Amino acid sequence: MSKKNILTGIKPTGTPHIGNYLGAIKPALKEMHNDMYNYKLFVADYHAHTTVKDAKVFQEYVYEIAATWLACGLDPEKVTFYAQVDVPELFELTWLLACHTPKGDLNRAHAYKALVQANVEKGNKDPDHGVNVGLFTYPLLMAADILLFDTNLVPVGKDQIQHVEIARSIASRINALYKTEVLVEPEALVVDAVAVVPGLDGRKMSKSYDNTIPLFCPEKRLKKLVNRITTDSSEPDAPKDPENSLIFDYYKLFASHKESEAFKSQLMGGISWGEAKAQLFEKINDEVKGPREIYNKLMENKDQIDKFLKEGAEKARVVAIENMKRIRGHLLGYQK
Ligand code: ADP
Ligand code: TRP
Repeated sequence: MSKKNILTGIKPTGTPHIGNYLGAIKPALKEMHNDMYNYKLFVADYHAHTTVKDAKVFQEYVYEIAATWLACGLDPEKVTFYAQVDVPELFELTWLLACHTPKGDLNRAHAYKALVQANVEKGNKDPDHGVNVGLFTYPLLMAADILLFDTNLVPVGKDQIQHVEIARSIASRINALYKTEVLVEPEALVVDAVAVVPGLDGRKMSKSYDNTIPLFCPEKRLKKLVNRITTDSSEPDAPKDPENSLIFDYYKLFASHKESEAFKSQLMGGISWGEAKAQLFEKINDEVKGPREIYNKLMENKDQIDKFLKEGAEKARVVAIENMKRIRGHLLGYQK
């Protein structure tokens, strides 16, 4: 049976946190060992430029994201790991796809629509206020990411399904027009992430809410952040209600079922929040301390990260050049 092409991208828009780890990184790396797949994973650096405009900050985020994946176990032998910047064919394909996309499809893309709606609600005279064209055409670059590599499956969170659908409909329109399978029509593989990881304040953990636990922050800071998690004000030896406790919510995310049950009994038996937090800290730290060491080493040795990305890009480009030649031939008649 031929292998399926599976591909996903990650935007370097901030320091990765434990929500990203549990909701995206860990589930994606599980598929790495699945021999049914030809796996590509890339840093969507050009997508991040729609919002991150400071080159220094941008570079830091790119390295942080790449180092995080490598530290969490991404095996560059198994996964083709690269950054968009090293695959110029993507930008050529973006243009060709743009010529086959009704503008209305992009008007309906949710990120753009949400901004327009916010402008309307604020009574802004210009509904497009603050919208750059890069943001508007974001789904086209994403479609190129997917279609350039004949991708069959795209693991994404629910919020990205629409973008994969846009890629699929562009591919099917082009195939119908040229009466042949110019492009593979991709499907979203919705990763049913662990339930949304809560932030320190109980809302969804997100860079935008400033309530995150950065995945690889130093041990001391991790301890401080765990101590900051909101709890109720019950007395130290009073029984605690695990079902209404953020501490228990976090604990479950890192522990086995058996460990969680034992922790639950302790809470109900009445241990102090201080003690519960100390145990939670140990639990998280146990899982992240090995990868944290690798992460720190890589961040001190960025040449190493560059080397991995460069080798990945070389592999990706062999495919990109070949596929782009095929697409150029069908759409424009060039045999080059
Ligand atoms: P943020 O909300 O911090 O900006 P992103 O939107 O960049 O995070 O998300 C990157 C990936 O991490 C996505 O696949 C998303 O589903 C996942 N993710 C982000 N926050 C959480 C969370 N709190 N719980 C579970 N998964 C999350
Ligand atoms: N838009 C995706 C996100 O915000 C990142 C991304 C860019 C992507 N290109 C992609 C995901 C291609 C899957 C396939 O998370």
